[in-house]
Amino acid sequence: MSSSALNMTAEQVTAVPFADLHAQYLSIRKEVDAAIAAVIGGSAFIRGPFVQEFEEQFARAIGVRHCVSCANGTDSMYIAMRALGLKPGDEVIAPAHSWISTTETITQAGGNVVFCDTDADTFTIDPAQIEARITPRTVGIVPVHLYGQPADMDRVMAIAAKHKLWVLEDCAQAHLAKYKGRTVGTFGTAASFSFYPGKNLGAMGDAGAVLTNDAQLAQRMAMFARHGGLKKGDHQIEGINSRLDGLQAAILSAKLPHLARWTARRQEIAAEYSRLMSDVPGLGLPVVAAGREHVWHLYVVRLDRRDELAAHLAARSIQTVINYPVALPFLPAYQRLQHLPAHFPVAHRHQSRILSLPMFPEMSAAQIRAVSDAIHEFAAAA
Ligand SMILES: Cc1ncc(COP(=O)(O)O)c(C=O)c1O
Repeated sequence: MSSSALNMTAEQVTAVPFADLHAQYLSIRKEVDAAIAAVIGGSAFIRGPFVQEFEEQFARAIGVRHCVSCANGTDSMYIAMRALGLKPGDEVIAPAHSWISTTETITQAGGNVVFCDTDADTFTIDPAQIEARITPRTVGIVPVHLYGQPADMDRVMAIAAKHKLWVLEDCAQAHLAKYKGRTVGTFGTAASFSFYPGKNLGAMGDAGAVLTNDAQLAQRMAMFARHGGLKKGDHQIEGINSRLDGLQAAILSAKLPHLARWTARRQEIAAEYSRLMSDVPGLGLPVVAAGREHVWHLYVVRLDRRDELAAHLAARSIQTVINYPVALPFLPAYQRLQHLPAHFPVAHRHQSRILSLPMFPEMSAAQIRAVSDAIHEFAAAA
């Protein structure tokens, strides 16, 4: 805790963590404890009924026929791209602003990453810039529903259809988000999900899944994730070992019935933040495009004095995060592509101006108010 926070009385400090996984656990403790006990009681640690049950329930919740669970969201993207048949030299278009899983898996699967700038309002891939990046070697597009807001899927899917490209939706931050009334994950050739603990639907460890309506693709993905075989000892290809374990599956099944309620609460908190802070000078509030239902994995504001605001909030025991401080093309990992800020001006401008505020369903009205008050105080002192 900072010295200025220590100088305050206990009543004055409303500490606001960035997220509070323990509060969520306490709110559903009985269900989670019972789920864990059932897995241990049945020694159902690897595959088995809990994994199958979660796969079926999650596929139904999203509205897709097949769910192949795996060890984490990054693996789900890699598994999908390997099963989609990515070959050396193939190009895949992905947004310049995302978490590195979106693009490192393209390279790992043997392809070449082609970055596309993002939309200035929504942080999602700018469809107006996709076609200029398509070459005879382009095979796919990976739109990311970043922060919980759907990408412009009508336009992405129209471009993909015109150029015969596959689409892998990165839904890691967007469980139950909707585009024109339709749940994300139902648009693309396949859709990858992360259940990292802090995600809108989070396990108590690493977990992920990839969904598709294509039965053959689902079979190839399941086979690849299980050492290249669907039956023990029958290895059709060389694969990897990427499994959702029974404990995580049972915990996710216990949490899934609460996801709609948690999502609604995130939406209420976002609305309250936006209402309370609509008059803060110089603060760019999140913009939700028409027809998109945002699920607020992150509530991200924009401002020029971002680092000063983060320090001001930290001094008041309010945690913030930058998602992400360096846009993908400018990371050392992509130095080989020699990208300049002018190639992706929107993503580049955002990297120094974005700040993610605390956002979790268990947030109290006092905590929301404390964040808003501290931001008003910062702006007034400017
Ligand atoms: C946009 C995005 N894609 C992919 C992933 C990968 O998920 P995981 O951390 O489960 O590997 C994440 C989560 O960190 C993410 O935020």
